[in-house]
Amino acid sequence: MQLGFEDLTQTEEWHFARLDRDGLQNLAERPAKSGIAVRAGAESDCAEVMKMIHGLASFEKLQAQVRINEDQLRRDILASANLLKLFIAERSNSGEILGYALAFDEFWPSGRGVCLEDVFVQPAHRGKGVCSALFSAVARDSLYNRRCHFMSLCYLAWNSAAFDVYRHYGFVDITGSDSSKSNGRIF
Ligand SMILES: CC(C)(COP(=O)(O)OP(=O)(O)OC[C@H]1O[C@@H](n2cnc3c(N)ncnc32)[C@H](O)[C@@H]1OP(=O)(O)O)[C@@H](O)C(=O)NCCC(=O)NCCS
Repeated sequence: MQLGFEDLTQTEEWHFARLDRDGLQNLAERPAKSGIAVRAGAESDCAEVMKMIHGLASFEKLQAQVRINEDQLRRDILASANLLKLFIAERSNSGEILGYALAFDEFWPSGRGVCLEDVFVQPAHRGKGVCSALFSAVARDSLYNRRCHFMSLCYLAWNSAAFDVYRHYGFVDITGSDSSKSNGRIF
């Protein structure tokens, strides 16, 4: 009997990358970017976050996979804040929303880690440190509040621009490798 699981590595070319504890610590200790604040998402952010979810899906050519609406976002994400963490980057002086990240904890035999599910910066605000501010906030929250010791994420093979950023933070692409080791680093 076939259970129907699909290997998305083949069909959508997902790559899997990880950042070890030292990298997580480095991200957490980065000085805050001036003019950019990162805070927990609130109910009032849902309409804007929904637009950014569509923006990310459109960028990744995966629009058909967005099946939630604003109400479901409010119910499923904000009501389960212990499981899913929504981070909003905003301009400090005006509160203008610049981007978002969505993260949840995962458990491996090596321990607890944080999985960065989504990261998106509004096109007009790219290249100004918004992504770095979001990653630092996720790293601080997961390392200091929940003792995570690695961060993982997936990216599409063609999105080398995103992986350039992740590699800059110290992420290693472990697609197809032994998931417990990569380049001699134990996660
Ligand atoms: C990828 C994305 C999130 C990056 O956001 P951003 O706000 O433009 O990134 P930042 O300006 O914070 O730059 C991130 C860091 O990477 C560095 N960087 C950027 N491009 C780089 C490159 N080609 N090589 C090395 N480092 C690079 C920056 O210098 C910065 O480092 P610093 O904080 O030490 O100065 C944004 O371009 C985006 O939303 N893209 C579309 C959606 C997407 O691809 N999401 C990811 C899906 S997996």
